[in-house]
Amino acid sequence: TPLSHIRNFSIIAHIDHGKSTLADRLIQVTGGLTEREMSEQVLDNMDIEKERGITIKAQTVRLNYTAKNGETYELNLMDTPGHVDFAYEVSRSLAACEGALLVVDAAQGVEAQTLANVYQSIEHNHEIVPVLNKIDLPAADVDKVKMEIEDIIGLPADEAVLTSAKSGIGIEEVLEAVVARIPPPQGDRDAPLKAMLVDSWYDPYLGVVILVRVISGTLKKGQRVKFMAQGTEHLIDRVGCMRPKIEQLEQLAAGEIGFITAQIKEVSQTAVGDTITTVKNGATEALPGFKEVQSVVFCGLFPVDAADFEKLRESISKLRLNDASFTFEMESSAALGQGFRCGFLGLLHLEIIQERLTREYDLDLITTAPSVVYKVVMTNGDEQFLHNPADMPDVVKIKDMEEPWIQAVIYCPDEYLGGILKLCQDRRGIQKNLTYVGDRAQVTYELPLNEVVFDFYDRLKSISRGYASFDYEQIGLRPGDLVKMNIMVNAEPVDALSMIVHRQAAESRGRHMCERLKDLIPRHLFKIPIQAAIGGKVIARETISAMRKDVTAKCYGGDISRKKKLLEKQKKGKAKMREYGSVSIPQEAFIAALRMG
Ligand code: GTP
Repeated sequence: TPLSHIRNFSIIAHIDHGKSTLADRLIQVTGGLTEREMSEQVLDNMDIEKERGITIKAQTVRLNYTAKNGETYELNLMDTPGHVDFAYEVSRSLAACEGALLVVDAAQGVEAQTLANVYQSIEHNHEIVPVLNKIDLPAADVDKVKMEIEDIIGLPADEAVLTSAKSGIGIEEVLEAVVARIPPPQGDRDAPLKAMLVDSWYDPYLGVVILVRVISGTLKKGQRVKFMAQGTEHLIDRVGCMRPKIEQLEQLAAGEIGFITAQIKEVSQTAVGDTITTVKNGATEALPGFKEVQSVVFCGLFPVDAADFEKLRESISKLRLNDASFTFEMESSAALGQGFRCGFLGLLHLEIIQERLTREYDLDLITTAPSVVYKVVMTNGDEQFLHNPADMPDVVKIKDMEEPWIQAVIYCPDEYLGGILKLCQDRRGIQKNLTYVGDRAQVTYELPLNEVVFDFYDRLKSISRGYASFDYEQIGLRPGDLVKMNIMVNAEPVDALSMIVHRQAAESRGRHMCERLKDLIPRHLFKIPIQAAIGGKVIARETISAMRKDVTAKCYGGDISRKKKLLEKQKKGKAKMREYGSVSIPQEAFIAALRMG
């Protein structure tokens, strides 16, 4: 296809504003899908994605559209992930496009996630076409939302396309706008090959499939290519595109988006943002913008039943086949036994992996307190990065510690602002900016990431009844007065619960933790002290009083079935307990204790 007849675009939208529904409609109208296939959302193809309503992996479809001017265009529609954890993947998808449809729910208006994506899109010099979706809803207020787009985002909105992706209204108009308003790609097809690796995933039949955008030259089947950042060479054995079904092609020329396979076994051998060039007469300079992905949040994952360790290892390895952005290494804990220390892009990413292990692989897991990466400067001048509280060096050897900070933008209706400001203040936040647009506030805070990884997002949602949106970026390390807090149950430290906290926050966090554990750990035959301590100093304490020997003793009378139930319950409980010295702690206690209230 000549460059003039190609359009590469993505759809940016706040969660639930209708991105997937619109994408499916575009595919349907251009003939890629039947009505029945439409009924299953195509672009979101993992179960968890569906349930959580988020798109994790970018996918791309090629559509052929014959416009009103009689010409047929090749439209490459790129689906991008919708969460801050996957910001780098988003940035590469955006770099592969020349424009974007900005989908805004006409009843909800502009949200923070939309803003963050729009700014990124503008940074990539995209032509942005506003699309007001859900105009079928009685609450839709097209004029108000147009004003918001102009006021908040600064984009002209008078030519916004009005759609109802659900009822199929305005879909032709969207396609016409793509052709008319989004510029065609540029690129010298005779120059040496440069293709950007946009995404990759594991397919059981094809092996690793790589999504590419060809920037210059031509990518052909049978070519020997070099992955410049990775420093590896491969033979291209398939070239194609998705419509959304796979269609094989002979080549992809500059300006085009498509996929290749090259008998690659693991996704970890492909780095998003890498430059692919030919081995012979290849490019000498890579494309700009390559970044190695780095884990931001770490936690330990341990099987509840030690016998499941091998199964956990296999399951983690399998997941990793398809998601190179999480890392794992073996870890052994005095109390939890053998497990893995895992690194994630963010908390949502952690939850997704944890949920998949539990659900798809049927594993009972104990997750230790999530931790960020701290920089420790030792008195002898050495520096080290710390992502496990268990590895914290002796305090007397530490000169300074630094912790990662983020800048967060929160967007919420005015009525919830007070609660949100308090939350940010409590989490050591520094307010940077506060502006109003109509009855909505946009507040910018700098926050230590450490204070955000616990339960910030959940708290934000509950304070705002789900109306607040939250977006963040990392802004580097800053010194902090950080200490390691241990939790002791019956005088034994429970390593899964130890964490690095700011000294000021230690006492309240320690107290919460002890109070929680008091309710979560069942009574034993003896008194159990629960303590939070920094070094040798106890900062909080609770005591679980002793219990009478026979659990059935309290059902005097002789109700046999009730007695049986109790005994059974006790037995079941046992299966999911961890022994700490002489104390049994139920599995739920770990997870619940880590959730601050
Ligand atoms: P993420 O993938 O989570 O980012 O969400 P999304 O933006 O892809 O939203 P999705 O297409 O999944 O739509 C969210 C919900 O809005 C679904 O229940 C859709 O059926 C509904 N929806 C989408 N478009 C319309 C529309 O035009 N009108 C109405 N009434 N509902 C719509």
